[in-house]
Amino acid sequence: MQTNQLKGNNGPRYRQEQASEIPYELIKVKKLTPVIGAEISQVDLSKPLSKLQEKEIHRALSENQVIFFRDQKISKEDHIAFGRLFGDLHIHPSAPHVDGIPEMMKIYADKDSPRANGEVWHSDVSCDLLPPMGSILQIIQCPPYGGDTLFASMYAAYEALSDRMKMYLRGLTAIHDGEPVYRGMYKNFGVQDKETYPRAEHPVIRTHPITGKNALYINKGFTTQILGIPIDESDGLLTYLFEHMENPLFQCRFRWEENSIAFWDNRCVQHRAMWDYWPHTRVGNRITVAGDKPFFNAIDPS
Ligand SMILES: [Fe+2]
Repeated sequence: MQTNQLKGNNGPRYRQEQASEIPYELIKVKKLTPVIGAEISQVDLSKPLSKLQEKEIHRALSENQVIFFRDQKISKEDHIAFGRLFGDLHIHPSAPHVDGIPEMMKIYADKDSPRANGEVWHSDVSCDLLPPMGSILQIIQCPPYGGDTLFASMYAAYEALSDRMKMYLRGLTAIHDGEPVYRGMYKNFGVQDKETYPRAEHPVIRTHPITGKNALYINKGFTTQILGIPIDESDGLLTYLFEHMENPLFQCRFRWEENSIAFWDNRCVQHRAMWDYWPHTRVGNRITVAGDKPFFNAIDPS
């Protein structure tokens, strides 16, 4: 059996649409791959942004799904202010936060950690009824090498499915359950478990509210079952879709440096963090921007 090859004899199964040729006026946008990811320069996030800078950063996120900034020496207040440009801030249902700032999630792993954040492909807190629109992570302390984060385009994963599979998935919904993920997860940080954790039903294909494009919206981290079909069929389908979305064709990989920032759009991106740097330490802070209820636009048959 061939896996992860998207085999066919009529050219590539996935063809990336041409990038916009409208130039940016203030920021510089350098793509990491034709499919996903771009590094943004000529902007200092420690200073207030002009309306045009803000608009161009938003456009870069829409066009590239995840954007990266380097050498940003920002304070916690700058980080929060940057997040607020894109919406209200989301508070994580379980993870530890920076003292006195519940909106700022701590990212930390060292030689004694029992686990590190994000080692499974996921979209942040997709178990929420209103899952976060985006996450803005700054890494403050890096291992000498390793600790990269992989990002995968769920637009590309959706587009690469056959027309028959797209038709099959249209209108299906799935359960995203926080309970098996979060219970006991942060006990090493002294976090007490809550009585319950979020659980939500979301469309398997999600239409992005800004771009109008469809994305595959299930993930290994949270999705437990596709509804409306027998459980064995759901298990088989999820196994296939999880394998499909891990194809490297849909991915970029970011190598962090101290004071790098990544801003990813959870509506169309999944990510996975590498914990390959033991016994070294990796430290960061994350601000998460609140989002809307996922929907599928059934009018558009694409
Ligand atoms: Fe994450």
